[in-house]
Amino acid sequence: MQVERVQGIASTFRDNIPEAYIRSEQEQPALTTVHGLDPGVQVIDMSDPDQEKVHGLIINASQEWGMFQIINHGIPSEVIMKLQNVGKEFFELPQEEREVYAKPPGSKEGYGTFLQKEMEGKKGWVDHLFHKIWPPSSINYQFWPKNPPSYREANKDYAKHLNRVADKLLKTLSLGLGLKEHELKEAMGGENLQYLLKINYYPPCPRPDLALGVVAHTDMSSLTILVPNDVQGLQASRDGKWYGVKYIPNALVIHIGDQLEILSNGKYKSVLHRTTVNKEKARMSWPVFLEPPSEFTIGPHPKLVNGENPAKYKSKKFDDYCYCKLNKSPQ
Ligand code: SIN
Ligand code: FE2
Repeated sequence: MQVERVQGIASTFRDNIPEAYIRSEQEQPALTTVHGLDPGVQVIDMSDPDQEKVHGLIINASQEWGMFQIINHGIPSEVIMKLQNVGKEFFELPQEEREVYAKPPGSKEGYGTFLQKEMEGKKGWVDHLFHKIWPPSSINYQFWPKNPPSYREANKDYAKHLNRVADKLLKTLSLGLGLKEHELKEAMGGENLQYLLKINYYPPCPRPDLALGVVAHTDMSSLTILVPNDVQGLQASRDGKWYGVKYIPNALVIHIGDQLEILSNGKYKSVLHRTTVNKEKARMSWPVFLEPPSEFTIGPHPKLVNGENPAKYKSKKFDDYCYCKLNKSPQ
């Protein structure tokens, strides 16, 4: 049976949306977004000659917000533009061509629509494509679109550059915990750390005041590195309120995910975020989730736990962590 895609629904509804996409009043963006106030998500210039300062800003933002943006990170703007263009072209293909990549049952990778049990049966206004991009040995090319033909090259190029940025961030975050530079990455699987790309496609929505793209969540990853398109929509939560995260051309948005909160024994915070949608334009984003291998166990780093600082989190295999989180009943 063919699953209904949000792109298909968006093309048939002009002024209203199906009931299943209307969020409760506690969630509707028009009622819950704080406007005109900068929430203070740091924008960090990675090329600042004062690298001590850069490290301090990254560590501080990871503790306070669990989110920051980086600019002048060394990934050429053409590389980012190509990644965006080929992803956009894939989502503009005829539907049947996308369905070739539909997620097989039980697979994390592939083209799809719903991610997890949604509260009260409500749905998010978004379709997606998932596939791994790093390390090269982990890639399943069956989930990489063959059309457009330059898809493969653009994604490989981005992955190679991203790996450098990720290594740099992980080293800084490791030092920020009082560990040696390499110890944090090692505790996430070292060179087997998996980079899972998700492309989010949020079609134009006739009622962006009532719907959400991705509902409020924290990422299950260790770290997420995200490229948005120029349609505003990412929001972060602070003290129970929702704030827009400013779009900055060529910036990367960094989210601390659950595994890093656990590894740091709570020093770094996994950020609660969600996305809104736009009436006229399609919003897109390219988060890459840096994840431990599925059988790898994650718990507070042994060097951070002692008599005075007991472990605040249980240790779990990454796979089990994801299973528990995705299947927990709504609360
Ligand atoms: C997500 O959190 O999965 C999506 C974020 C975004 O689209 O900006
Ligand atoms: Fe997310």
